Amino acid sequence: MKIFSGIQPTGDKHLGNYIGGFRQYARTQELGDAFFCIVDLHSITVDYDPRDLHDRTLDLFAMLIATGLDPQRSTVFAQSHVTAHAEASWLLSAVTSYGQLGRMTQFKDKADQREFVSAGLYTYPVLMAGDILLYQTDRVPIGDDQRQHLELARDVAQRFNARFGKTFVVPEGIYPEIGARIMDLQEPTKKMSTTGGTEQGTVKLLEEPDAIRKKFRSAVTDSGREIRRAADKPGVTNLVDILSVATDRSPGDVEQAYDGQGYGDLKRDVGDAVVELLAPVRERYLELRSNEPELLRLLATGAEKARAASTPTLEAMYERMGFVTLS
Ligand code: TYM
Repeated sequence: MKIFSGIQPTGDKHLGNYIGGFRQYARTQELGDAFFCIVDLHSITVDYDPRDLHDRTLDLFAMLIATGLDPQRSTVFAQSHVTAHAEASWLLSAVTSYGQLGRMTQFKDKADQREFVSAGLYTYPVLMAGDILLYQTDRVPIGDDQRQHLELARDVAQRFNARFGKTFVVPEGIYPEIGARIMDLQEPTKKMSTTGGTEQGTVKLLEEPDAIRKKFRSAVTDSGREIRRAADKPGVTNLVDILSVATDRSPGDVEQAYDGQGYGDLKRDVGDAVVELLAPVRERYLELRSNEPELLRLLATGAEKARAASTPTLEAMYERMGFVTLS
């Protein structure tokens, strides 16, 4: 089985990324031949600082290893090192619907937030479809916010296959059972995000333990006193989900354990559990990040493996689309 997922290097990585992303990557790499891509080409679609992109690409690579990816077993690489991604994106734009791109909620949200809306922000899901399809991917571990983009990638694969002959596997998503959408601690009806969320409500992976505990202590809860997951209790539901993931228990077990206790106890314990979950990640990250030559060496190995794996698909695309090929 082939597994593929991608994550953007810009913006601080947060607990939502950990639960919907990193944690799933480490688990799904066991399922087969896995590819994890630092999608630096995606990060230029909104305003960014080139120096920041450079440093954060290396930060993210260290973080992916610190959270459990094994670069010997899996292919971990940067998107810009494999030119097939940019090429596939252009070729696939021929079978992507303009109307469907305009209906992407992430595009609409991000476009609303800024004055300058780049063409890249609009065509971003085509690049993402290429990322996935180039590797004949069966499964894509992602959080809930990427569901619509994956649906588009499936449509693109089916349209290409129907028009030019079977070339791509039609991929399926893998979503975490609990925590597919971790919410902002201050505004629990919004997803946790460094771009759209609040500073106090976003727990960053490399934050100091005391700062993490403080954010949980001041998390917004709901009316009533019962610790129970419910649609009208988004704050409590989010905290129960996070505690459930951090301590590897079912949400039902967590609810039962807090029967008769107050929100204050829950908030304190979630903070402690998250600190405990992230402390070893932080330590390992700092160690890896201090050895840049080793990170660059591992990135070069990842790029080589990813080029070898994606080239046959790219060649098949050119050929089936009618381009003259020289070999
Ligand atoms: P990105 O970089 O925004 O997020 C990386 C992963 O984290 C998940 N995630 C969350 N999960 C739960 N709760 C949250 N609050 C939360 N916020 C983020 C995301 O769902 C994602 O799995 N477009 C993608 C990157 C990408 C990609 C791909 C992913 C490019 N090409 C190919 C999969 C396959 C993105 O911006 O993710």
